[in-house]
Amino acid sequence: TFCFANSQIIESEKAKIHPMDIGLIRGYGIFDFFRTSNYSPVFLNDYLDRFIRSAEKTFLALDFGKEELSQVIHELIEKNDLKNGGIRMFLSGGVSENHFSPTKGSFFIFCEDLDFPSKDKYEKGVKLLALEHIRSIADIKTTNYAFPVWHSKIWKKEGAEDVIYHMNGQVSESSRSNIFIVKDGKISTPANHILHGITRKRLLELAPQTQIRNITLKEALNADEVFMTSTTKKVLPVTQIDELKIGNGHPGPITKKLLEEFTELEQ
Ligand code: PDD
Repeated sequence: TFCFANSQIIESEKAKIHPMDIGLIRGYGIFDFFRTSNYSPVFLNDYLDRFIRSAEKTFLALDFGKEELSQVIHELIEKNDLKNGGIRMFLSGGVSENHFSPTKGSFFIFCEDLDFPSKDKYEKGVKLLALEHIRSIADIKTTNYAFPVWHSKIWKKEGAEDVIYHMNGQVSESSRSNIFIVKDGKISTPANHILHGITRKRLLELAPQTQIRNITLKEALNADEVFMTSTTKKVLPVTQIDELKIGNGHPGPITKKLLEEFTELEQ
């Protein structure tokens, strides 16, 4: 396959990064991740906006504008014959003398295979493990997922699909997804300490009456429906948190309807 490395399209195996890049030794870097559907990048404009915003907020210089990025991405899709796959953009903090100050980073765009959760998970819903944690600088898509990667050992041991993070009683998000709850037909999603997901944004357009507010873990546990949203999961029903069943333990009607509507939207 081919990737874009620094400023040219090359064979993916030939891409290189310096071992002292602070993206590696300090976890200082940013990325974004989106999908293609039938060779077309889905919601590309939103992802590019978010990537550029992450670069600005982390003081990392991105040498390419939206137009150029879009052009490269379309070229990569064609060269890699990426009908339905994932595309990752990554900008590192760069190499610096004190191993701490961001400099000119390394920039890559590469293509990946992408699998959605199994049909079974959409039909039955998944279990989340509630863990106390809060991501700092939550709205920047940094490459620092050290805690979630570490936590994944714990949630897998507990037979959970993923995690639902909370702190001081307030729910934020999952490890790589946003969270929504439904109670008495009303949809809500956490307002704070989240990455503003592009899937979440689409859901808010599909269900504009959704309340964006603080949600307690107790509310989530007592909800009729819970679901998670992300690029790789779309709208995935959550039917259990810890040992507690959500609602009647089956994916609810609002979750199913939104998954259907979202799936139509991206064709
Ligand atoms: N994760 N919250 C976090 C912390 C995330 O990492 C992601 C995305 C989301 C959902 O955002 P979106 O709907 O734009 O995918 C929320 C991607 C999929 C990842 O880490 O691979």
